[in-house]
Amino acid sequence: MLDNRKGAFQQAYRILVGTDSIQLINKTGIVWDSGKVLNSNSLITYNGAALRPFTKYYWQLALWDKDGKPLQTTMANFEMGMMGMENWKGTWISDRNDVNTMPAPYFRKVFSPAKQIKSARAYIAAAGLYELYLNGKKVGDHRLDPMYTRFDRRNLYVSYDVTSNLKQGNNAIGVLLGNGWYNHQSLAVWNFDKAPWRARPTFCLDLRITYTDGTVDVIKSGDDWKTSLSPIISNSIYTAEHYDARLEQKGWNTADFDDSKWRGITLRAAPSKNIVSQVMHPIRNVEEIAVKTMRKFNDTTYVFNLGRNIAGVSKIKVKGEKGTVIRLRHAERLYANGHTDLSNIDVYHRPKDQSDPFQTDIFILNGEGEETFMPLFNYKGFQYVEVMSSKPIVLSEKSLVGYFMHSDVPAVGKIASSNSLVDKLWWATNNSYLSNLYGFPTDCPQREKNGWTGDGHFAVETGLYNFDGITVYEKWMGDHRDEQQPNGVLPDIIPTSGWGYGTANGTDWTSTIAIIPWNIYLFYGDSKLLGDNYQSIKSYVDYVEDTSKGYLTTFGRGDWVPVKSTSDLEYTSSVYFYVDADILAKAAKLFGHQNDYLQYSALAEKIKNAINAKFFNPATGIYGKGVQTELSMALQWNIVPDASRQMVADNLAARVKADGMHIDVGVLGAKAVLNALSDNGHSDIAYQLASQDTYPGWGWWIVNGATTLHENWDMQATRDISDNHMMFGEIGGWFFKGIGGIKIDEKQPGFKNILLKPHFVKGLNHFEASHTGPYGAILSSWKRTTKGVKYDVVIPANSTASVEIPVIGGTKVYLDGKQISNTINISAGRYVFELK
Ligand code: BGC
Repeated sequence: MLDNRKGAFQQAYRILVGTDSIQLINKTGIVWDSGKVLNSNSLITYNGAALRPFTKYYWQLALWDKDGKPLQTTMANFEMGMMGMENWKGTWISDRNDVNTMPAPYFRKVFSPAKQIKSARAYIAAAGLYELYLNGKKVGDHRLDPMYTRFDRRNLYVSYDVTSNLKQGNNAIGVLLGNGWYNHQSLAVWNFDKAPWRARPTFCLDLRITYTDGTVDVIKSGDDWKTSLSPIISNSIYTAEHYDARLEQKGWNTADFDDSKWRGITLRAAPSKNIVSQVMHPIRNVEEIAVKTMRKFNDTTYVFNLGRNIAGVSKIKVKGEKGTVIRLRHAERLYANGHTDLSNIDVYHRPKDQSDPFQTDIFILNGEGEETFMPLFNYKGFQYVEVMSSKPIVLSEKSLVGYFMHSDVPAVGKIASSNSLVDKLWWATNNSYLSNLYGFPTDCPQREKNGWTGDGHFAVETGLYNFDGITVYEKWMGDHRDEQQPNGVLPDIIPTSGWGYGTANGTDWTSTIAIIPWNIYLFYGDSKLLGDNYQSIKSYVDYVEDTSKGYLTTFGRGDWVPVKSTSDLEYTSSVYFYVDADILAKAAKLFGHQNDYLQYSALAEKIKNAINAKFFNPATGIYGKGVQTELSMALQWNIVPDASRQMVADNLAARVKADGMHIDVGVLGAKAVLNALSDNGHSDIAYQLASQDTYPGWGWWIVNGATTLHENWDMQATRDISDNHMMFGEIGGWFFKGIGGIKIDEKQPGFKNILLKPHFVKGLNHFEASHTGPYGAILSSWKRTTKGVKYDVVIPANSTASVEIPVIGGTKVYLDGKQISNTINISAGRYVFELK
């Protein structure tokens, strides 16, 4: 419900929850009634009778507006799942093959409902990946379910409403299992194949049917299922999928299929004792991308160009002779001769032979007319697809499409400006963010697909300004807690099969444990994740403190992939140590842990003092050697003593000018430099850096045709050269903060109160940022006029804003024709300020 009147806010609320919608209208059969509560809160935790598994709850919200008048609201509902392990009826099953068997297994069972069906739900948990079918049709539109977890510690199950998939009489359930990260058969330097949980994929399924008479039947996985190998003769989440259409068994997942040749299954132990609901936006084939150009080399070789770099899959439609072998090689780059070039991304693949080529699907035709192939258990990073056939085939631009796949998080942010480079950069940043969101944030969708912790937190603000990503981060923090050593240490990559507990897995990367939940709290006002992580943050900070010397630590990797200058490792690692201790102290205060608050705020102060004592020269206002990363990190993370702040910021501005108005940073500096400038009086310089179109800088990639962010500033570099990395992606969030000025008020997080501090930077005539937060859509839009600037603002109902409008010289600020101060507190509504 939208109340866009000026000053709109919620005076009171009342929440009613019940199991019957009609009763709820009559206010009977209530399981929770909050009563009328006189406040404007919107994050309310259910506080009624214990919720029951498999039960649907209806809830009705009553609201009173700013004048105390009741507002019309609609009824909504939610349904509980298994809730506990003890509610599963099925047994985990698999086929009788071992981990090295290549083909993916099919499973099937036929059943017939005993009575009239009222509703039906399918619950499926898998170690590996699954596709679920009922009566020949795929259930749902998720891809690559379930998401990657430490399979020996936590397994995810997915719930579906399958009422409309069932019929009276015979029904067939079909399940196809893929390897995913559970049974990694491809070889790479990351030891994916050495995972301690590795085994042949397995699943457990409960199909719960409620009849019209209220009785319930559960059709479940168990020893009456049958299995057979599928035409997917090889599947690797990391490399590709191979499919032999000659092995298709038409109708395998329908009731009438003759399965007399199929074999019995084997019963398996559950992979872990923690099987929980997958509560997150699933991966989908979100965008279908048509081919932009096709080049035919000869009648067996074609190269397709999607015109943009994506993560996902391609789908080919082709006619050919039976036994024709088609290879589809996916690449981000082309050689000068027009063929696909994998040399920037296949470097960590360690194939034992030719049978598992990188990012190359293999499709063997059955010769029965037009055939279609799209991999089910793999994804890739690519712009080009080279199709190589063993026999002549005829292809056109329409023969292939790309699907941009990612965790399908709703978009909540938008940038539009008078500089097309800025708009393209914003878009490219989001493309890289989404390309690297597959149930957990990854570094790149091709070479590694690793949940590199650092990359995850460098990108978190950009992610949350642009997408409603909370569920992915909640899940990823669960992965963190599963991985954490008893001594507090976290691996570099999460989840991990074991790789990443080396020496560089320190604060600049693994501070995800504190930084991610803190940002979720700031963006959503929701402290649940911070609370869930509290003990983990504490043991992490304690570990770093124990191993530090004089409150300084070298536990870290350093400013990775810098342009040219390097920064002191002890300095950069200690800054993140401070960040963690500071977040921990603030969390302790928030949760009322007074002793922790005193202890960790004192620790944070000691770390800060130690950094300043060793690395700061108060006379000159220089940190370390005075390079961009060193100066900007101190400003961004509040290390600089207040009195020296401006001097350090001015030094940074001077450094940037001395560097030819170009960045000279790696990942740590890229996170800090734009904010450090725009927060401290140098927004024009920040904008010049952000929009710089010559080397080195973000814009240099864009003018060279990039549609995603790269891993290396130097486009001629010979290592660390993926073309789809998110680790330099803070710029996408900075646009909202540094130019649009939409900022979080730590004292009233979740945009309850918005700080609006736009910068009318030189070189731009117009800039517009909008972000839909928990209260609704915030708009901050400015445009130069003949006389000055027009600044347009929208503040959603039930929230407020503290506006600070930059004025230069004798400029005056007007609102509704009246001159006002350039700082003003406003309530909900639309405001048009004029600067003259
Ligand atoms: C990854 C990075 C990661 C880095 C850490 C690289 O191979 O792609 O994004 O953060 O290693 O060293």
